[in-house]
Amino acid sequence: NPVQPPELDKCGTATNLNTGEQLDINCCPPVTDRILDYRLPPVYQLKVRPSAHRVSPEYIAKYNKAIDLMKRLPADDPRNFMQQAMIHCAYCNGAYDQPGQGSLDLQIHNSWLFFPFHRWYLYFYERILAKLIGDPTFALPFWNWDNPKGMTIPPMFNDTKAAIYDPKRNQDRLTAVVDLGMTGNTDPLQLVANNLTIMYSEMIRGNADVYDFMGQPYREGTAVNPGPGSSERGSHTAIHVFVGDPREPSGEDLGNFYSAGRDPLFYCHHANVDRMWTLWQYFLPSNKVPDKRITDPDFLNASFVFYDENAQLVRVTVKDSLDNLRMGYDFERVDLPWIDYRP
Ligand code: C2O
Repeated sequence: NPVQPPELDKCGTATNLNTGEQLDINCCPPVTDRILDYRLPPVYQLKVRPSAHRVSPEYIAKYNKAIDLMKRLPADDPRNFMQQAMIHCAYCNGAYDQPGQGSLDLQIHNSWLFFPFHRWYLYFYERILAKLIGDPTFALPFWNWDNPKGMTIPPMFNDTKAAIYDPKRNQDRLTAVVDLGMTGNTDPLQLVANNLTIMYSEMIRGNADVYDFMGQPYREGTAVNPGPGSSERGSHTAIHVFVGDPREPSGEDLGNFYSAGRDPLFYCHHANVDRMWTLWQYFLPSNKVPDKRITDPDFLNASFVFYDENAQLVRVTVKDSLDNLRMGYDFERVDLPWIDYRP
């Protein structure tokens, strides 16, 4: 059977997965008994998520305005900035158990739920921001770390006065080339070459079947962490580790599940992770993986709950998340320099 959405009234204590200790923060969302089944609204105009290195000053101002408004919402509003950050903690740090499965934790990472869960998470985050600034065309930026032009933290995140700034980042890496292989190398040219090799490998060469990319099956009753896909394990995790602040006790913010959503850069990073899924589905040669779809009903019918832009709790399914165009957004087209980057 598919994984069922968590019961919000049974949300409990979360665990710091980097240390194994209990967290003394509450990452449970407000409880309500009114849950609606979410229906994707008709798409009249596609939103286009821009590459974060290429956005205009007007875009940056609008984005900061939206994040600022989100931070100013009442603390108990499920759309509030910290409440949104806590979604990640709740679904990833053992605050929820799988319904009807005793004390079996619900954990959407390291499995085939990784891409769909984060896609829905960003989807509502984006809609909340859009609503706050009254601009339905607003789309999150993506951190284009797979392209040499995007292999540093997007400059707009380094403005210390901006709402999208977070002081808890590795100060040695604010303008450094990312290290997608977690090699420890600091030579920029070697890093760029190595990053492109890694992208080629995790997007193309390293995958023999759909689960190699998407992650391993995770069903009702499955123990946590059945196994991540290539992208989750590789570039995705590397960016978290790269940005997390070594001055903090436990890699906060981006370097720890419970705190990652507190850094606005998280959603920009994950917009690129989300883009990798779209690229893999629709833009890559498919000779190596004959069928890129998962037709297993335990995948398609898995579901989550989120608060939408109207603070209404909604139930969403994996099957409604498979096509970003149906969800109303696309990505700015940029080069894919890794696509032929055979080592
Ligand atoms: Cu939910 Cu990048 O992790």
